[in-house]
Amino acid sequence: MASRSFTRQLRAAASKSSKSVSAVQRRTLVSAARQLTRPTQAQRQAPAQQVRGLKMIDFAQNGQLEKVHERAEWPAEKLHEYFKGQTFALIGYGSQGYGQGLNLRDNGLNVIIGVRKDGASWKAAQEDGWVPGETLFDVDEAINKGDIVMNLLSDAAQSETWPHIKPLITPGKTLYFSHGFSVVFKDLTKVDVPEGVDVVLVAPKGSGRTVRSLFKEGRGINSSFAVFQDVTGKAYEKATAIGVAIGSGYLYETTFEKEVYSDLYGERGCLMGGIHGMFLAQYEVLRERGHTPSEAFNETVEEATQSLYPLIGKYGMDYMYDACSTTARRGALDWSPRFKDALKPVFNDLYDSVKNGTETKRSLEFNGQADYRAKFEIELQAIRDLEIWKAGKEVRKLRPENVE
Ligand SMILES: NC(=O)c1ccc[n+]([C@@H]2O[C@H](COP(=O)([O-])OP(=O)(O)OC[C@H]3O[C@@H](n4cnc5c(N)ncnc54)[C@H](OP(=O)(O)O)[C@@H]3O)[C@@H](O)[C@H]2O)c1
Repeated sequence: MASRSFTRQLRAAASKSSKSVSAVQRRTLVSAARQLTRPTQAQRQAPAQQVRGLKMIDFAQNGQLEKVHERAEWPAEKLHEYFKGQTFALIGYGSQGYGQGLNLRDNGLNVIIGVRKDGASWKAAQEDGWVPGETLFDVDEAINKGDIVMNLLSDAAQSETWPHIKPLITPGKTLYFSHGFSVVFKDLTKVDVPEGVDVVLVAPKGSGRTVRSLFKEGRGINSSFAVFQDVTGKAYEKATAIGVAIGSGYLYETTFEKEVYSDLYGERGCLMGGIHGMFLAQYEVLRERGHTPSEAFNETVEEATQSLYPLIGKYGMDYMYDACSTTARRGALDWSPRFKDALKPVFNDLYDSVKNGTETKRSLEFNGQADYRAKFEIELQAIRDLEIWKAGKEVRKLRPENVE
């Protein structure tokens, strides 16, 4: 799409803004965001109401106020006092277990890990300094010792292990998840929560690696949080406290249902499945119309991910339309509604498939198979073998930072 000068202009803008990011990293996300974004007129007219740590924000400027909790609500001393004498038993040490567990530990809270002794996670946890018999136990022992049981097994494993785990979650404990999957689709997963325990959720909007890296940078990841069962009357504040303790910067209120529906929908749509489908469709047409692999890749993926998408992320779509050439702008404005109309029925089908449990059933059936990793590897290899991604591998080698 873009001319060289346009691409240069965008890269310069991106580089300028990334310098501003590093300059503000130690400040709060609010002030960082203020530095990076140019508020629209509507944003200037509708300022958020500020109460320490709790914000009521009218995101769409249509009168629908949403609660957002900020980590300032739970400074370290208050967290320590709140969780005094309590043990976090974190079950599973995969992506989220790693990020959340280390952040809890660095926040000075009492946390132990529970994983099976013959699995890869046991070794990984030891490498991160969890000590067998002191802070690292098998699953049963950790749950027995814990007050807040954090079920961070893979979603398929949560279902598989539930008949064994459920009797260990005795009244008085708190049961925590990072996804609404197991509880909302209990007819399929069989995860029926026990009575007498608070059941809460904090779902970081990113991988466990990002949960950790943002925490180490002194920032915090955005997470959603929800309460499913409140027996103590304190589940809501407990969920926000845990959210901050695991390394969240901002906590957006949701429900277990909304969290799982939006999450499964998003990852199948614009976050991964939909975007991959769109890349493939555009690339194939270019190739069928005689364009070279490098040209097809550059116009489909490279320019998108390296130049345009980061700018859309930082400044929004209006900025992108404003910053591009008049030719690009006219065409994109004209074609956007056609893509929306063509894709909306697919997104509606997808939402139905999520809500009626079809996606959950498929996930449990596939990921519950003993040989699921081997089967997945075959699918992964098929993606690696696609011409678009082979071309991408070569194009990436020619990025300025990869050329000696
Ligand atoms: N990954 C993300 O980006 C992300 C983001 C937000 C929320 N979440 C949610 O966070 C939760 C944890 O996800 P994750 O991605 O961290 O999981 P994961 O990386 O897939 O972790 C899997 C963990 O489950 C254990 N496990 C698997 N099968 C088991 C079994 N049969 N018995 C006992 N342990 C078993 C593994 O132990 P072994 O090493 O012993 O196999 C490992 O510790 C999920 O609810 C997920 O939806 C994930």
